[in-house]
Amino acid sequence: MMAASSSSTSSSSSSSVAHGLAGRSIASVSDLSSEELIAVLDLADDLKKKQHEGQSHRLLPDKTLGMIFQKPSLRTRVSFESGMTQLGGHAIYLAPSDIKLGQRETTEDIAIVLSRMVDIIMARTFGHDIVEDLVKHADVPVINGLSEREHPCQILADLQTIRERQARMAGLRVVWSGDGNNVAHSLMYGAALTGMELFIVTPPGYEPLDEIVADSRALAVKTGASIHVTNDLQSACKGAHVIYTDVWASMGQEEEAAERKKTFAPYQVNMRLLENADPSCIILHCLPAHYGDEIDYESSRSPNSAIFDQAENRLHAQKALMVLLAGAG
Ligand code: CP
Ligand code: NVA
Repeated sequence: MMAASSSSTSSSSSSSVAHGLAGRSIASVSDLSSEELIAVLDLADDLKKKQHEGQSHRLLPDKTLGMIFQKPSLRTRVSFESGMTQLGGHAIYLAPSDIKLGQRETTEDIAIVLSRMVDIIMARTFGHDIVEDLVKHADVPVINGLSEREHPCQILADLQTIRERQARMAGLRVVWSGDGNNVAHSLMYGAALTGMELFIVTPPGYEPLDEIVADSRALAVKTGASIHVTNDLQSACKGAHVIYTDVWASMGQEEEAAERKKTFAPYQVNMRLLENADPSCIILHCLPAHYGDEIDYESSRSPNSAIFDQAENRLHAQKALMVLLAGAG
């Protein structure tokens, strides 16, 4: 098993890994190699320390980020926007009603025009094909800020949080409880790239996409990771180091929320689940949360909870990603 949780790579090799990210786009966590993922996390830790200590780190002066949103957001918008300010650059929020992606103008034309005006594009979309179209037609790096298929920025922040709280990644037993959704898909790739033992636990019929199960298992071969898909939450949580959940109905699935509430009820993350977990077990939720549904308020505020560290780490992880994609790392 490779030492995926280590940040001990030599500075020359880690800097060549970092340079390899310049100009690239991140539509999926699987667009990164294990080494590139660690380079992002290492820089994220460094930028977090600098920000906490009040040290200037204006690594992207005069750079502009264009942010396309088809859906609502608190964390993604604010972390990218604040992140660019802290890096000495600027971010432009493009609301759904501003550009009416696909209605007023094609994705292709938006990608071409934005490429002539901004240095990086971030997009939160419904269809993942929109992110892929932006990547295809843009001449600048494109970052997926959540699509129906994946949420890679979330998982970068989550891996930073897990490494901070558990001091390692490889070998950790990580449980996802809930929908086999976009966040679960990105977590599968993240776990595969970092050597984790991941249990995706869903109600029958809500499993992750077969192709992502197959792809993440193929990646796992290189790191010693294992990706399990099951409906048995209690067994999965025995000895768990991380228990992670998300809303039962994602943005765009609002009409299914009532039905899902009944189906998903046995998959709630709460204090009882921690009884058979490892004593160090942390609870994660990407937020926004529906307390009393997928997570109870008590566990979200317990010492085991890292949900607000996750939210904060969106800022640091995305700053690191932007610096490396812009070739300023
Ligand atoms: N976790 C997350 O992406 O939050 P927002 O939807 O508020 O951006
Ligand atoms: N799965 C959720 C994540 C929100 C950050 C959604 O897509 O709405």
